Parts: sequence; structure tokens; C-alpha cells
Amino acid sequence: MAGQRKTEFGDFQTPDVLADQVAKLIQTVFPAPDMIVEPTCGLGSFVQSCIAVWKTGASYHGFDINPGYIDTCRRNIVPEADCHFETADFFLQNWRHFFSTEKKRILVIGNPPWVTNSALGVIKGGNLPKKNNFQELKGFAAKTGKANFDIAEWMLINLLESLQQHRSACVAMLCKTATARKALKHAWASQWNLSDSSLHRIDAKKYFNVAVDACLFVTFISLEKRTDHAAVYQDVSYEKKLSRFGLHGRELIANIDDYKKYSRIEGSSSYTWRSGIKHDAAKVMELTIKEGKLINGFHETVAIEDNYLYPLLKSSDLGNNRAEPRKFLLVTQQAPSDSTGKIRENAPETWAYLEKYSSILDGRKSSIYKKRDRFSIFGIGKYSFTPWKVAISALYKKLVFVPVGNIEGKPIMVDDTCYFIPCGSEQEAVLLAELLNSEESRRFLHALIFFDAKRPVNVDILKRIDIGKLADFTGMKEKFTEYCSSCVQASSPQQLTIF
Ligand SMILES: C[S@@+](CC[C@H](N)C(=O)[O-])C[C@H]1O[C@@H](n2cnc3c(N)ncnc32)[C@H](O)[C@@H]1O
Repeated sequence: MAGQRKTEFGDFQTPDVLADQVAKLIQTVFPAPDMIVEPTCGLGSFVQSCIAVWKTGASYHGFDINPGYIDTCRRNIVPEADCHFETADFFLQNWRHFFSTEKKRILVIGNPPWVTNSALGVIKGGNLPKKNNFQELKGFAAKTGKANFDIAEWMLINLLESLQQHRSACVAMLCKTATARKALKHAWASQWNLSDSSLHRIDAKKYFNVAVDACLFVTFISLEKRTDHAAVYQDVSYEKKLSRFGLHGRELIANIDDYKKYSRIEGSSSYTWRSGIKHDAAKVMELTIKEGKLINGFHETVAIEDNYLYPLLKSSDLGNNRAEPRKFLLVTQQAPSDSTGKIRENAPETWAYLEKYSSILDGRKSSIYKKRDRFSIFGIGKYSFTPWKVAISALYKKLVFVPVGNIEGKPIMVDDTCYFIPCGSEQEAVLLAELLNSEESRRFLHALIFFDAKRPVNVDILKRIDIGKLADFTGMKEKFTEYCSSCVQASSPQQLTIF
């Protein structure tokens, strides 16, 4: 129960040492505030750190939904400071009204709850904004609350909006990096008065024992200045700036300086990126070789024909620049429309093996399998069977494009956590890998990718590289024309694609 309560209220109390660091940092960039607010104060670590920095020069206001925390704050926090603690639900507060005060400089500081609305859905928690069509979610998502958002994101947006009319305010909050980014995107797109925003990385494992990318998010509200970018710093200081992200048109760009420098390779790709094979039954479909025998994920020896077996590379192989397959994949079709029934005649042992595991294969949950032949797979087509590919894992922070060939004429397959371009020859695959691994390409991709996403690399990003322009930019135009032009010429003018 205590665990569930902790989840519902995103309750991770900030260690004093971190709250002290934050208060001291804000002191260096914001003139002495006369009102300091911690909207979800918990045990009040930020109020205490702020009192240590600004002493009796300000009034301090702490709110929390948990009356026990408020009692503790009232008991423990120094009485000589002008402190006001109140039990209150953030979502029922009229923050705009609260901030419409004569006070000159407001600091809003703290650590809003770390929980998403879908996590609340799982535990049937009710700690959510009331009657608010958050982020103007459309249709079904809005009605059912299905779209996933962080409670902290809603809180940050609400605070930033409520402070818009104030002459001088600073918001300094610990949160997930993605939460800060989404709140900023909303604020920038809404043209709110924010300036000099920054994200300062923190080690969430060390301070909160959670494995997420987290930061101290700092921004300033003044009626005079507006900027739509934010600097990312290595730690809770302004010393080591890593990059600057911001709005470009309506899109959030991860590194706007590199984007400006390398965007000349942007265009529409003359190649079609494909994703690897999806089968949702790794223990059955993926086999390894041990002492000359095929073994499945249940550690059973599998004796089947080799007609339908193909060498397989997984994300972990590509992410580590390994092009030597350690697995085999049962590829039951050459195209999604292929009948799998013919396996029975072509390879009876394979058919018997598939039947043996039919409860697993027939029970695959994804709806894509429902209207297809039994034992179907996805992400399959002529493009899967070209002799060479250049492939990348979608999951790794290190971007490595790997030329992937074939073993005794059998093309090596990749799984659905990978993307690839089918290639007609080894030279083409090697050249494309060289181009895509070039400094220019990697800096361009890094400018677009937010690496804290679950699947940082995706087709929408990859296809923004015009490989022809990249060849030009990197001085490899001639080689590119020699090895790759035949496929480009063979394609239709609208969609230059080889397969
Ligand atoms: C991440 S903890 C941070 C606590 C404190 N600010 C700190 O930094 O140590 C989040 C706090 O938000 C409080 N909380 C959660 N939902 C709330 C709500 N709807 N209104 C007010 N406080 C809430 C929790 O009780 C918890 O103390």
C-alpha cells in the first residue's frame, strides 16, 4: 500500500544535498526573491535550502497533498522565517490568482511528482488534473485519458502559464528531461514569455534510485524577453554547456547549432528505409547453434530443414558493431501475402516444429497476426532478401551503421528493433555505411535525436538524410555515382526506391 501511495503521488523526496545545490545555483542567476513557493513541498527540503540561502528576506510557501508532510514541515522548519505550509491538492489550486501578488520577484522551486497518467491508470489512482483537456488531446485519447503524459508536465505547464503576467519570476524544478522538454515545447509554441531556459543534468539513480534521464529545469519569466531555445548543462552548474535545443518551425530540434551547420544534407531520401522482421515469438523463432545443434529459447534441440532458416542479427549485435550472426531466424514467408501452408510440403519437420509451438504462435497478441496465415511474420518483402543491407539498431545511443551481407548466399536478416536500406552489392552497402557513419551524417542525426526516448532512432529521422547530398558534402560523389546510381536510376521519379 505504501508503495502504491508512493507511485500515485510520485513521491520521491529530494535529498538535502541536492536541494542545497539547486538553491545555491539559483542564487547566482536570480536576484533575491521576495516570495518563494514550493507547490508540492513534501518534507520541505527546498524550503529549508532556500531559507539557508535567502534567510528572512522572503516569504516561504509550501503546499502538499499529504497532511502528514505538512505537519512535519510546520514542526521542523525554522519558526523565525516567514513560512506558510498548507495541505492542498495542486490540481485544485488557482495558481494564477495565487501569483497575482504585489511581490516583485517570485521563485517557484521544487520537485513535482514523478508519475504518468497511465501509471495512475494501472493503480486506479485519482491524482490527476480535473476536467482538463490536457494539451488539447483529441477524440478518443482525450475522452479516455489514454494518451500518456507526466503529471509533472501538466504541473509545469500550469505554473508557467499562471506566471505569464508576472514581471519577474524564476521556475526551478527537478523533473524527467523529457518532461521539461515537453513543457518547454508547449510554452514556446504558445509564445509565452520565457527566457534563458536551461536543463542541468542530475544523476537520478544516485539521488532517487530511479533509472531515468532527469534534470533541474530552470526558466525565467519576464515581460521584456522571450527566447525559444534552452541550453543543456552537464550538471547543476552553468559551467559545462553540452548543447542547445529549441524550436525550429514547429519542431523541437535536439541540437540547434549542429542542425544549422549540417542541415544541408537534409532532403528526401533516395532510398527507402525498412524495419527488420517482426515475429513476437523469440523463443520459438530464434535459434542458436550449440555443439553443432540448433537450440531454441526453451533450451530444446530443434531438428528442422534449413530451407526457412536465415542468419539473424539483433539490435545488440548492430549496436556493438557486430556483423557476424550468432542466431538463426525461422523466416516463414517471403512476403506478407505468402501462404505459410506450403511449408508443410516443402519442409515437413519445420511445419511440425511450428505446430508443436502453435499455442505460442497462435496466441501472439498483436492484432496484425489475426487476419493472416498461421505462423506469419511481419516486416518482410523482396527488400529483406537483397544480398546486402546497411543496418542500424533503433535502440542504441551510439549510432553505428553496419554493412550486413549474407552467408553462403542466404541474406542476413535483422529484427524489428533495427532499420536498414537494402543494397544490391557489397560495395554499395560498404559505401552507404561509410557515408552514414561520417561525421557530417552523425552530427546531423545527433542534432535531431533526443536520446532519452525509448526508441531514439526512427525512420522519420533516418529518411531526412539525402544520401546524394551527403555524398556531395563529404566529397564521395564519384564513388556514390559509381556504386549506387544504378539503383537510383531504376526507380520511379516520385519515390526513388530500389525494392
Ligand atoms: C517528488 S516528491 C517531492 C517532494 C518535495 N518537493 C521534495 O523535493 O522533496 C512529490 C511530492 O508531491 C506531492 N504531491 C503529489 N501529488 C500532489 C498533488 N496533487 N498536489 C499536491 N502535492 C502533491 C507528494 O505528496 C510528494 O510529497
